[in-house]
Amino acid sequence: MTACEGRRWSLWTFVAARPFCLRVGALPLRRCGPGAFCGSAASKRRAARRRMRSVTKILSLPAKQFLRRHRRRCTLFEAFVKVMATAIDEKSPVTGGHIRRVAELKLTMAEVIHDIKEGQFKDITFSQDQLYELRIAAYMHDIGKVTTPVEIVEKAKKLQTIFDRIHYVRLRMDYIIQKIKLEGQNSKIELLQNGNDPAKIKSCEQETLEKVAEMEEIRDFVNKCNEPGEFLEDETLERLKELSKRTYQDEAGESQPFITEDELVNLSIRRGSITEAERKKMQDHAAVTLRMLKQIPFTKKLKNIPNFAGAHHEFINGKGYPLGLAGDEIPFEGKLMAVTDIAEALTASDRPYKKAMPLETVYRILRSMAEKGELDPDLVDLFIDKEVYKIYQERHENGANEKKSSEAEVKS
Ligand SMILES: [Fe+2]
Ligand SMILES: [Fe+2]
Repeated sequence: MTACEGRRWSLWTFVAARPFCLRVGALPLRRCGPGAFCGSAASKRRAARRRMRSVTKILSLPAKQFLRRHRRRCTLFEAFVKVMATAIDEKSPVTGGHIRRVAELKLTMAEVIHDIKEGQFKDITFSQDQLYELRIAAYMHDIGKVTTPVEIVEKAKKLQTIFDRIHYVRLRMDYIIQKIKLEGQNSKIELLQNGNDPAKIKSCEQETLEKVAEMEEIRDFVNKCNEPGEFLEDETLERLKELSKRTYQDEAGESQPFITEDELVNLSIRRGSITEAERKKMQDHAAVTLRMLKQIPFTKKLKNIPNFAGAHHEFINGKGYPLGLAGDEIPFEGKLMAVTDIAEALTASDRPYKKAMPLETVYRILRSMAEKGELDPDLVDLFIDKEVYKIYQERHENGANEKKSSEAEVKS
């Protein structure tokens, strides 16, 4: 306690309640008047309670300014998280919905783990601060997608770029068909003019019909190959290669391929709708997330966010990305995020390249990924056995998805 220009000052130590607040050792409090520290023990306690109730009123100016600045920093950070989520949301509604759902699903799973009283997860608990850290990490886990081209994020068909190039291929095929028909007509006219017998004319007509039918079949075949649904067999791949070697003459008399080299690369995608180059670009978002988050000077309580968020595509067997971490090198929260990230992606109904999968199929895929050493098998078992997705769904559908960490909720 010190005297200062006739007034008495005290030091009050406190621990900040909000996750963002720094632990402050002492704040200078200004006394309201003389006699506050005199009298019986009971009256001192009463006086102390009164002082605590009106603590905000008696906080000295420097402390008030400190708290105000600190609150502004908290608000600024939460606003930043919202802005980033909105940026991704605006860029692709698919990704934006995914981020929010992963955050909810991940917190649901963390809360289920927190409540487990026996087995290997019995000692794992999550405080309010840790839940808040998890939530922010989940909201920021795909932040790197701001650099991923939107045509890759939303690529629904193999020939899709900024638009689906199948229209070009169809037009080309239609042009070839019309050309065949025209050439057939010209040949028929020539035969008629030369007085050829009807059998020869009939044969010419038949030849044209067969050529047209062949081209129509090729057009349908390419159209089917553009769909990402089924696995592409070797036979189909070979046929596509042959087609890329076949040519026709355009209006300028130049030889053009039935399908271009770039179209061949895209149509030859074995599974899904993105090429290897596009996959690499897509996977790059995890590294970008890590790089972006590492630049943020997180407080002690949030310092793990970059590692949690950056690990959501790491696999237990070390074959994940961006760092290729294996086993215990991956933080528990990162493994947790990997399971919920994949589960959400599989159950999502708003992906342009696939339909929402039923839970049984999702469980089968998660188990198979655990068997391959990609996901943590214990977390996968827990996700399935405790029906984490159903709990999340009930909360989500009932609009009762407020969590323990509601104070720290980030809305996007
Ligand atoms: Fe991701
Ligand atoms: Fe994700």
